[in-house]
Amino acid sequence: MTETGMSRETARLNRRGFLGAAGLAGAGLATAATGVRAAPPATPDPLITDVQDWARVLGDGVQARPYGSPSQFEKHVVRRDVEWLTASRESSVNFTPLHELDGIITPSGLCFERHHGGIAEIDPSKHRLMINGLVDKPMVFTVEDLKRFPGRQNHAYFLECAANSGMEWRGAQLNGCQFTHGMVHNVWYTGIPLKTLLDEAGIRTNAKWLLAEGADSSGMTRSIPLDKGLKDCLVVWSMNGEALRPEQGYPVRLVVPGWEGNMWVKWLRRIEVGDQPWHQREETSKYTDLLADGRSRRFTFIMDAKSVVTNPSPQAPLKHKGPNVLTGLAWSGRGKIGRVDVSIDGGRNWRTARIDGPVLPMSLTRFYVDFDWNGQELMIQSRAIDETGYVQPTKDELRKVRGVNSIYHNNGIQTWLVRANGETENVEIG
Ligand code: MTE
Ligand code: CO
Repeated sequence: MTETGMSRETARLNRRGFLGAAGLAGAGLATAATGVRAAPPATPDPLITDVQDWARVLGDGVQARPYGSPSQFEKHVVRRDVEWLTASRESSVNFTPLHELDGIITPSGLCFERHHGGIAEIDPSKHRLMINGLVDKPMVFTVEDLKRFPGRQNHAYFLECAANSGMEWRGAQLNGCQFTHGMVHNVWYTGIPLKTLLDEAGIRTNAKWLLAEGADSSGMTRSIPLDKGLKDCLVVWSMNGEALRPEQGYPVRLVVPGWEGNMWVKWLRRIEVGDQPWHQREETSKYTDLLADGRSRRFTFIMDAKSVVTNPSPQAPLKHKGPNVLTGLAWSGRGKIGRVDVSIDGGRNWRTARIDGPVLPMSLTRFYVDFDWNGQELMIQSRAIDETGYVQPTKDELRKVRGVNSIYHNNGIQTWLVRANGETENVEIG
């Protein structure tokens, strides 16, 4: 294990051998017994008898923290990168600490970042958004103009990078859900439908595609079908109730619900209307999937249903026998999550997880299984089923169709091995 909590080792287990040895045959997911047994009070317990500093000394007043930040004891809850994986300013990525979070909203400061040319620090008074191409009236908007349009909307949507879980195509690799699944975040957006701006400019009848362009040094460009742009894309300036963070595209970004993160152009400066796609770098050599027969899947766009158990996981091992709470996240680019199943015996037996909190279309959805752990080894998996009936595939099922050349669009079922001492590892059942 390195400092970032990941290991490059590939752990592969023989399914029959493992299950036989572990004797999991009868291990169902028993409902947790009522009452978590706490330790009996030690006598004398200084944590109870002593007056702690925070009760003795006057604390900070309201002037001390004009913009709040987490407790000093939560310093470990941070985005992390993987040294050997594109941590340069030309192309960099870090990961959301999913195992430290609960509910469905990602705190703004913990949203993973993916930049192709670093963070653009934009003065909003100098930023413009242009609409050109096959329109009656090309237009240029200031950020203030955008905020004066009627029909403002609020939505929670997940954004998943197409490369999320990309390092796992050829076997288990990164040891932590932060690294295997942390290229996803879910925030509340406020903005206006892209359709409002397109209507203002007047789309010509032969228009079929849009090109979204960023103002950062990478000049990120992506072709988007006009139908999608008119259906539910948003131009947003706000996340989780406050201005977008610079990392997330301040002052304006494009939101493309349910579709691969690369299309959600940050620092949005131009939308061109055209009659065919532009075949930019990010939709030809990148974000395409090379199949076994040499052909490539292109313009796949939608992120299929996926899920992951965030606790327990390698960075969040099991620490206590008895009642425990297993939790995780599920999402689908095709709509709402219908059901989540959880297995603790490597996919032999499944139990329906309890979903709590809102189940919103194209948003992260939180699930729980309250269970009793008696110290036996577990092979934990989760499987998402969305409202269209699509079932999250196993990694081997995916490989049968897609081969092993891919990096992108890996929504296969994840397995965590929980050892008898509670330590948890990224493995694959072979
Ligand atoms: N937009 C611009 N202008 N520049 C970029 O580098 N990266 C894209 C997309 N939009 C990118 C961009 C990629 S690959 C992803 S996954 C998402 O933004 C990441 O969004 P985030 O940084 O808010 O997580
Ligand atoms: Co991406």
